[in-house]
Amino acid sequence: MQVKKYFPPIWLLKTFVHVFSLLPLINLYWLAFIDELGADPVKEVIHFTGIGALNLFLLSLTISPLAKFLKQGKLINLRRVVGLYAFFYAVLHVLNFLFFEVQFDFNLFIDEIFDRPYITIGMVALLILSALAITSINNIRRKMGKGWQKLHNLTYLAGILIVTHFYWSVKSELSSPLMYIAVLIFLLYLRRDKFRRWL
Ligand code: HEM
Repeated sequence: MQVKKYFPPIWLLKTFVHVFSLLPLINLYWLAFIDELGADPVKEVIHFTGIGALNLFLLSLTISPLAKFLKQGKLINLRRVVGLYAFFYAVLHVLNFLFFEVQFDFNLFIDEIFDRPYITIGMVALLILSALAITSINNIRRKMGKGWQKLHNLTYLAGILIVTHFYWSVKSELSSPLMYIAVLIFLLYLRRDKFRRWL
């Protein structure tokens, strides 16, 4: 498909990413501040930032197959900003847990990480996302050479860990995590040639 003629410029798409990532967060914390987040605001904030992180993460994985499909190589320039917002949401998700759920009790936080497997998996995913975010800085990326791509292949492992964390955290209604698992499998399937080359 050739859509060069009407394709929006990258600066405009980046502006959309900033606006549509930041506005929902401002709205969320404003509603929490004025006590309009329903009966269980802590659960709501953890839910919103967790799902937001997952949505943005999957969006970042969609960009390169979409760029290929639309023959719009410049779309790749959006991958970093979307990935960084996924990381930002994930950090807020964990900070909300730390602040509101375990009330800054670090010992309890560590216990939770070791005692509850879905939290252990979430923590490993967060560590991978942190490494990906830090190494997305241009200078560090340049210094890493080929190692950068190797490290960034951990993105796929992070995806598997995040959807597992979601699936495991849910007690009854499994349709939503199963839908996210299906989307991740599809996005990994689009990269099957790359995975075959690893074998
Ligand atoms: C130390 C790291 C993490 C901790 C402590 C943590 C904690 C939690 C908690 C307490 C829940 C709610 C479970 C419930 O409703 O009972 C949750 C759900 C979730 N988390 Fe995490 N999480 C971590 C990492 C991550 C990361 C890195 C991501 C994504 C990038 C993520 C995405 C999600 C999603 C999508 C849900 C389901 C949201 C829902 O339906 O409520 N989490 N997490």
